[in-house]
Amino acid sequence: MKKAFIKSYGCQMNVYDAERMADVLAAEDYAETGVMEEADLVILNTCHIREKAAEKVYSELGRVRVLKQERAALGLDTKVVVAGCVAQAEGKEIIRRQPAVDAVVGPQSYHRLPELLKAGRGAVDTEFPVEDKFSQLPAPSRAKTQSRGISAFLTVQEGCDKFCTFCVVPYTRGAELSRPVAQILAEAERLAAAGVREFTVIGQNVNAYHGEGPDGRVWSLGRLLRRLADVPDIVRLRYTTSHPRDMDEELILAHRDLPALMPYLHLPVQSGSDRILDAMNRRHTGDEYRRLIERIRTVRPDIALSSDFIVGFPGETEADFEDTMRLVDDIGFASAFSFKYSPRPGTPAAESEEQVPEAAKSERLARLQALLETQRQAFNHGTIGQSVSVLLEKPGRHPGQLAGKSPYLQAVQIETGAHRVGDEVTVRIVRAGSNSLFGELLEPGSYGAAA
Ligand code: 5AD
Ligand code: SF4
Repeated sequence: MKKAFIKSYGCQMNVYDAERMADVLAAEDYAETGVMEEADLVILNTCHIREKAAEKVYSELGRVRVLKQERAALGLDTKVVVAGCVAQAEGKEIIRRQPAVDAVVGPQSYHRLPELLKAGRGAVDTEFPVEDKFSQLPAPSRAKTQSRGISAFLTVQEGCDKFCTFCVVPYTRGAELSRPVAQILAEAERLAAAGVREFTVIGQNVNAYHGEGPDGRVWSLGRLLRRLADVPDIVRLRYTTSHPRDMDEELILAHRDLPALMPYLHLPVQSGSDRILDAMNRRHTGDEYRRLIERIRTVRPDIALSSDFIVGFPGETEADFEDTMRLVDDIGFASAFSFKYSPRPGTPAAESEEQVPEAAKSERLARLQALLETQRQAFNHGTIGQSVSVLLEKPGRHPGQLAGKSPYLQAVQIETGAHRVGDEVTVRIVRAGSNSLFGELLEPGSYGAAA
């Protein structure tokens, strides 16, 4: 068997795609390896969302080229493939700049990897093919599914039609596409049978999901989650990433009605300034976001909130930034990601003449991150003394410990007792470290007693 090494950058969609590429390659007699030096095929599954992502890929490719030469000296052939969103954005430019690359494949075409590898040097496929890649992908082999672990990603939707003015996703991932319910359920049942207990349902704009249901009607994400909650052995559901405009009532009520749906919501707001939100083409205001959160909290008061923020978007003034700080203050986030605005070639905001100086971006980011960090710590400390359920996912830091997640996506370490990976146990949180919580198992009699 040949060996393939796949390195993923960026979002969870890329992690999922890397697994599916491994499935495609398994059908071609490739086994996955974690060691690049022994790989007959090296795939860099790239991200283009921020920063000098493309530059990072070129410097990594420089290292891969050296490796390829070293292996060639030993008489070993190494194929190098660039996949993902940089592949989509740069296309054959990649091969021009780095001749060690054999093929370039975009995120919608990786089901064609075997053909590309056979096509020989210089193959590029960045089409948005008419055939649906999902229906072309082979089912994961049994060995492969068994290694999926307790928590797995499940892609239900891809692409985005929102065109926020800072974002490359609509260009690299293309138009919104929802997988049919039946196809998703077949994959979900296969994963559950292989030991998966938690699905994180993913999509670039997951709550815009509108897939064809088995009844021939269009199903929303809320409806799909209800159905996924019935898949045998699935105890937890999560979904990401959502857009505030697509948080419909059915999805909000799923948070009230589905015990399996975890009380955690990643809902990017990007900014608290209406002027900037408008320039970003987000199509909601700060107050609309506040009201939405209020509504979600009425049905699920304990929901933990997470968000994405961009500071230094073109034209952002000190007053706009203060609006963002106020919004963060008003809402209170359990966790968050925040970034300096990074101009992406081809997006409208990159053309703006009101770019914010780097120093202002850095200063605002530091202030925002300090506030968000205070809120994160406060949230974690707030769970001390509470009983929470923990889904055990893997061995802990020390012998005799297991690690898992609370419903609020906090990492929790516990002394195991008789429990095993895959069990959902009830613990009392006794301590909060900077990145994980420590829990004590409650008596068996009190399992399930926790709220
Ligand atoms: N600059 C900075 N951050 C960005 N994001 C997307 N595009 C950019 C950009 N050009 C952030 C957004 C998005 C997250 C995935 O990445 O906050 O929600
Ligand atoms: Fe990008 Fe998300 Fe906006 Fe779509 S909704 S354009 S993926 S930031």
